[in-house]
Amino acid sequence: MVKVTVCGAAGGIGQPLSLMLKMNPYINELSLFDVVNVPGVGTDLSHIDTDTKVSYHLKSDDNNTGLSQALKDSNFVIIPAGVPRKPGMTRDDLFKINAGICSELATGIAETCPDATVLVISNPVNSTVPVFAEVFKKKGIFNPRKLFGVTTLDSVRANTFISEVATNEADKAPSAFNIRVVGGHSGETIVPLFSVCAPHVYALEDEKKIDALVHRVQYGGDEVVQAKNGAGSATLSMAYAGYKFLHAVLAASTGDTTIIESSYVYLDDSIPGAKETKEIIKGLYGGESLDYFAMPVVLSKEGIKEIKSDILSRVNNKEKELLKICCKTLAGNIAKGASFSQ
Ligand code: NAD
Ligand code: LMR
Repeated sequence: MVKVTVCGAAGGIGQPLSLMLKMNPYINELSLFDVVNVPGVGTDLSHIDTDTKVSYHLKSDDNNTGLSQALKDSNFVIIPAGVPRKPGMTRDDLFKINAGICSELATGIAETCPDATVLVISNPVNSTVPVFAEVFKKKGIFNPRKLFGVTTLDSVRANTFISEVATNEADKAPSAFNIRVVGGHSGETIVPLFSVCAPHVYALEDEKKIDALVHRVQYGGDEVVQAKNGAGSATLSMAYAGYKFLHAVLAASTGDTTIIESSYVYLDDSIPGAKETKEIIKGLYGGESLDYFAMPVVLSKEGIKEIKSDILSRVNNKEKELLKICCKTLAGNIAKGASFSQ
């Protein structure tokens, strides 16, 4: 029996994500949690004639039994709870309010379903994932193989945007690409590795075109925030990306050992490839190494099986420079998240 809980299920991401999860063959029970509107969303989804059973739970006024009922026996928890950006804001501006929400949800998970695999969408991901890790450490249940910051939208954008540059010349579709994006999930911490994983695209022989493409991936979120003009940030493309990542994690949990996806993870020395990743980052950055980094990871039944550190040793000089800039900002983001609960 596989139970998946969505925290923030009534939101802009939560609703389309829950719709897709209701259609996922791996999931037996879909549990929806939110502070508002979730009875309507849950009732609506429950009329769909797929086999996945739907339950819904509102945050309750007492000691949050709504949350513990939602989380009870969950194997996977995906979290698009929290406030989104408006034009003129950075993801970091969301930290104070979203870190509080994440801390509360992390406590609920630690107390109710400590073995669950946790996928964090709430921004700023660079800092909210450390918030989860610190709560889990305090509760003595932290398993670094089962905590994921969802950065899939960066790869999704990189695949789409490079295909737009390539289409005129090489007739490439987005599905022809699988661009790995490493680092973090905000602005200059987002580092797409076009030199390592793109099939040859003639347009990218032009330095200016590469620079523009990298910038578009790094600031793709701003494009959506500006276009929505005060009505929030990416929801539909994020629901797709969150679904894509969770589907990969679910497929791996059934025994498929061939799945590699990028995610923002804790570089715990016990995970093969983590030490090597930290060493390479340290060499590039010149400062302390970082404890968290988005990297391609091999998924398995037990969560992360291996971190594919080798990708960092194949980057070109331009990407090395991008990684240096990324590390500087990311170090501050990580420290902010890690110190939140102290
Ligand atoms: P939204 O406001 O539409 O939805 C958020 C939902 O969270 C709401 O329904 C709200 O009631 C709920 N919520 C608030 N506090 C809660 C709590 N304590 N427990 C449970 N639910 C709670 O926002 P959205 O557009 O869906 O975005 C959600 C978050 O995802 C934002 O922080 C946004 O920045 C982030 N995001 C991340 C990525 C990514 O790539 N990781 C992409 C897009 C958006
Ligand atoms: C995104 O990349 O679209 C999200 O992180 C939302 C945002 O604030 O840009």
